[in-house]
Amino acid sequence: MAKKIETALVHAGRKPTKAYGFVNPPLVRGSTVLHASNAAKDTTGQRRLEPVEIYGLYGTETHFALEAAIAEIEGGSHAQVTGSGLSAITMPLLAYLKTGEHLLVPDSVYGPTRSFCDGLLRRYGITTTYYDPMATPEALRPLFQPNTRVLFTESPGSHTFEVQDIPALSALAHELGAKVFLDNTWGIHHFQPFTRGVDVSIHALTKYPGGHSDIILGAVVVNTEADWRWLRIGSLELGNYASPDDCWLALRGLRTLHVRLKAQEAAAMRIAIWLESRPEVARVLHPAFPSCPGHEFYLRDFTGSCGLFGIVFQPQYTAADVVRMIDGLELFGIGASWGGFESLVLPTTGTIRRSAGTGVFEGEMARFQIGLENVDDLIEDLELGLAILRGA
Ligand SMILES: Cc1ncc(COP(=O)(O)O)c(C=O)c1O
Repeated sequence: MAKKIETALVHAGRKPTKAYGFVNPPLVRGSTVLHASNAAKDTTGQRRLEPVEIYGLYGTETHFALEAAIAEIEGGSHAQVTGSGLSAITMPLLAYLKTGEHLLVPDSVYGPTRSFCDGLLRRYGITTTYYDPMATPEALRPLFQPNTRVLFTESPGSHTFEVQDIPALSALAHELGAKVFLDNTWGIHHFQPFTRGVDVSIHALTKYPGGHSDIILGAVVVNTEADWRWLRIGSLELGNYASPDDCWLALRGLRTLHVRLKAQEAAAMRIAIWLESRPEVARVLHPAFPSCPGHEFYLRDFTGSCGLFGIVFQPQYTAADVVRMIDGLELFGIGASWGGFESLVLPTTGTIRRSAGTGVFEGEMARFQIGLENVDDLIEDLELGLAILRGA
C-alpha cells in the first residue's frame, strides 16, 4: 500500500503485527555480540552491507529501525545514521571524494559545511568552488571541471533561504558525471529528493525529527545499490557511529513529527506575515513568500515549509540595535539549532554568504525558529522587541 506521510511516520521502522510485542522498537545498547559457536562467528563485519547485528559499531536493532524509517520517508532504498547532522555531510563527502577531485558548493551553505571544505578537504587535496545558489544550469556549467565529482546543494540555503532548482541542476550534474548531494534538513518530508534527481540526501535529525532539543544525530539516504555500497563501506571504514539512545528518541520523535511540523509551519507563517507588515522589516526570507528567490521552485517541489525563516531589517537599524532587541525578548531563546518545541532567534548578519550577486542584503538580519508556544504571545513579545529596536 502506498502510504501517505502521516501513516508512514507512524508505521515506518516498526513491526506492528508482531504478536505480543511492544509498540516501539527496543533500545539496544551494546558493543560485543556473542556468537552461538565458533563456527557461527561472522568475520565479515567490515564489509557487511545489510543490517545484521554482529558488532555494536555496525549497528543494532535500534539503528536499523530508524534507518528503515528514514529511508521509507525519504523514498530512498537505504539510510545510514551518523553521529550528527554535520557528520551526515562530512562522512559521505569523505567516503566519495578522493585527492585531486573537485566539488561545487552553494555560497549559501551551512557554515560548518564550508569550514569542512575549506579545512580538511582542502588539506586532503580536494578543492571547492562556491557558486550562487540561484545559478541557472547555463551559469553553473562553466564552473564544472573535468575532475568535478560532486554538486553539493542545500535548498533552501542556511540563513538566506534561496530555493534551488534541484531537478535542473541535477540533470546538468549527471550530464557532466557528478553526483548530487542535498542537505535536505529544512525540507524534512516536504521535499522528496530521489524523484528530483538527488543521489545523496542528508538530514540533521537533531532538528525536527528529534524535535525536543535533546539529541544530536544525522542520516544519509541513497536510492541505488551502487550508492549504498560506497556509502556503507565508507561509513564502516571511518568508524561512523550514532548513539542508540538518540536513535530511539528520533524514532519516537518521528511519530509526532507531522503534527508538530504542521503547527510550527502555520505559526511561522503567521509570524512571518506579521513581520513583513512591520515598518522595521525590509523583507522576510521564507521560501513560501513570493519575494523569496526560487519561490517558484518551492511551489513546484515542496509540499510545505517549517518553522525556520529569516528577516532583513530596514537599513537604518544597526547590529547593536538588533542585539538589543533580541536580548530584550522574553519568549525567544538565543540559540543556533532549530526544530525543537521552543522559539529561538539569532542575529545572522556576517555568518552568511561571502560572494556578491544575490547574496547582498540591505540591512541587518535575524533568523527565527518558531516553536509550539501560543502565537499571540510570541507576536506580543516581538512587538515589544521591535519597540526596543526603534529605541522607543
Ligand atoms: C542546514 C543544516 N544542516 C546540518 C546541520 C548540522 O546538524 P548538527 O547540529 O546535528 O550537526 C545544521 C545545524 O544547524 C543545519 O542547520
